[in-house]
Amino acid sequence: MEYFPRCLPRDESEAWVSRTQVAMAERGWGLWAVEVRGVVPFIGFVGLSVPMFTAHFTPCVEIGWRIAKEFWGHGYATEAAIASLHFGFEKLRLQQIVSFTASLNERSIGVMQRIGMTHNCADDFDHPSLPAGHRLQRHVLYRMQRSDWERL
Ligand SMILES: CC(C)(COP(=O)(O)OP(=O)(O)OC[C@H]1O[C@@H](n2cnc3c(N)ncnc32)[C@H](O)[C@@H]1OP(=O)(O)O)[C@@H](O)C(=O)NCCC(=O)NCCS
Repeated sequence: MEYFPRCLPRDESEAWVSRTQVAMAERGWGLWAVEVRGVVPFIGFVGLSVPMFTAHFTPCVEIGWRIAKEFWGHGYATEAAIASLHFGFEKLRLQQIVSFTASLNERSIGVMQRIGMTHNCADDFDHPSLPAGHRLQRHVLYRMQRSDWERL
């Protein structure tokens, strides 16, 4: 949670899980649980969501990830992210999927780059939920258009 404004206490974390499950039930897609088949049933989540804040690129569908630290460095986020892009472009027929994170979050940016998303500095933005001057306020935005996906 280094690149999030704060760690959620247990009750807020569980409330977040419940909201995520409701969103999944309503839409039929969302932030999927990631399993390492035959090894660990749950190491985190990767999937698609709709950001609740307003920015120059919203409304949009975002791809995001959060994997338990002991499972970093195996390519699991990248593999699950490609599966999520496949779902978004092939099943949902989206025209674009974005991803964003604090500009300090190099590991997350690494996933965006590995899955073939592209970055334009002109898209970078200050997250509207964070106060001016907060160390995490500056965010990068990466995009993948349907045409990019079709070329992969
Ligand atoms: C962002 C996050 C998911 C990245 O995890 P990760 O393990 O670095 O990412 P990947 O799953 O793509 O794995 C890439 C690493 O696995 C290695 N790897 C091994 N096999 C691989 C394969 N088959 N394919 C791709 N990478 C592979 C890569 O070389 C890379 O190693 P490196 O870290 O030494 O460069 C993780 O840091 C995280 O959960 N962070 C906390 C939550 C967070 O910040 N989320 C984003 C907020 S917006």
